[in-house]
Amino acid sequence: MTKGCRTRDFDTAMKAERRRIELTKLFNESEISARVEELARAAAACFPGNFVVVGLLVGSFVFVADLLRAFYRIGCNPSVEFMRLNSYGIGRESSGNVRLIGEFELDLSGRAVLLVDDIVDTGRTLLYALGLLRNKQASSILTCALLDKPSRRELPIEVDFVGFTIPDVFVVGYGIDYAHEYRHLPFIAKID
Ligand code: IMP
Ligand code: MG
Repeated sequence: MTKGCRTRDFDTAMKAERRRIELTKLFNESEISARVEELARAAAACFPGNFVVVGLLVGSFVFVADLLRAFYRIGCNPSVEFMRLNSYGIGRESSGNVRLIGEFELDLSGRAVLLVDDIVDTGRTLLYALGLLRNKQASSILTCALLDKPSRRELPIEVDFVGFTIPDVFVVGYGIDYAHEYRHLPFIAKID
């Protein structure tokens, strides 16, 4: 069957690629969790009432999960939703076209929103997501990214809460993938 063959070819290619890939740890588990607590405090201070965390799938799922529990520990009880956008495919370069794949039903009109992504690179994904949320009449939207690569920015967007600013390197782990691999790593590493 074509699909099975393609999957086997892909797995073989990934195994070969993995042998060549070196991972260099950038942020370990305790560094990440300390920073997530700080981000939760900083963001919570900007939301006087209740708010909605909107995560961008797939890359932000681990970050959002930790962020939500950090919010709980400081007495915040946000709602949570996810939007699924896609821009990367299986390469290391963004395709440049962001599109919406999966959307939620939650009514955002009049709600304060914290939009969360894993990484801001060119800025396309976050700007596109901001546009979608503005169309839903959110009363206010703040943005949060675990990682920011400002040197790669192509569109003008300032992120309100950034975990770590990094240079132009390709990273994986803590929900972030390379060709659908490495999301399970509890740390963040760059691939060489
Ligand atoms: P942007 O639209 O160019 O800002 O890219 C943002 C999206 O690209 C993020 O949501 C990530 O999923 C993905 N991305 C950007 N840099 C990396 C990386 O270094 N590793 C894995 N994914 C990345
Ligand atoms: Mg992403």
